[in-house]
Amino acid sequence: MTATNGAPDPGRDTHFGFRTVGIDDKQAMVDEVFDKVAPRYDFMNDLMSGGLHRVWKDILVTAVNPPRNEQLFSALDVAGGTGDVAFRIVHAGGAGARVTVCDTSEEMLAVGRSRAAQRGLERRVRFTAGNAEMLPFPDRNFNACTIAFGIRNVPRIDIALAELFRVLRPGSRFLCLEFSSVDVPGFDAAYDFYSFNVIPALGRAVTGNAEAYRYLVESIRRFPKPVAFADMITAAGFRRAGFRLLTGGVVALHSGWRL
Ligand SMILES: C[S@@+](CC[C@H](N)C(=O)[O-])C[C@H]1O[C@@H](n2cnc3c(N)ncnc32)[C@H](O)[C@@H]1O
Repeated sequence: MTATNGAPDPGRDTHFGFRTVGIDDKQAMVDEVFDKVAPRYDFMNDLMSGGLHRVWKDILVTAVNPPRNEQLFSALDVAGGTGDVAFRIVHAGGAGARVTVCDTSEEMLAVGRSRAAQRGLERRVRFTAGNAEMLPFPDRNFNACTIAFGIRNVPRIDIALAELFRVLRPGSRFLCLEFSSVDVPGFDAAYDFYSFNVIPALGRAVTGNAEAYRYLVESIRRFPKPVAFADMITAAGFRRAGFRLLTGGVVALHSGWRL
């Protein structure tokens, strides 16, 4: 709910795309979006990004740097959806690499479990229902934590960052891939046109749901700028927070260490 005078109440309101919504209402709206698009989610990612999401995810996994030996390496991929990042981590690592995918959408998790079964990876990639704001894992549990294109969907980002910090082992790294802001003259206008016109139309054609993809585009514009997000990572307790812009700022890879 918004405040009675119609102005957003910073304590109780947030954004769902460009709409102001009650902070307690947002998660159900986000879950509805991903439950609906789950069966076509991976195909749409390839279509919308021209396959670039694979390159961005590979850059993330290179930064995770899972050991290529038998040593147990246990990673958590929050908002991991259909397991795309998780599969890449186990492929990049040795026999000891394990990933737990944690996500709020049962439909996204169901697609992920079936992809894991097709790849024979059920024992190495596990799918768990859970909210980034209240991770169902013990303190200091994982050798790495990742979140790809997930953090902007979370209603209370500061709480999710604190949770990621809590479950990470000291000496380990948090990595976050997220859409960012394009600031290249000429490219920014083309990117805006593509985002606000082409993506919702593709969403309608492929999933029958233009609204879900309008939310995607709007939520990207609402997300904090890279320096501000790096400050939030530091505020959660991480050290050496930094970021790297990819593809002219379409995406940012943020990181921080729990020391
Ligand atoms: C854009 S998808 C990203 C999926 C995957 N990481 C990828 O890169 O392909 C965003 C995911 O965030 C999940 N999500 C949204 N809010 C969440 C929350 N509070 N906690 C955990 N997952 C959440 C959604 O269900 C969805 O699977």
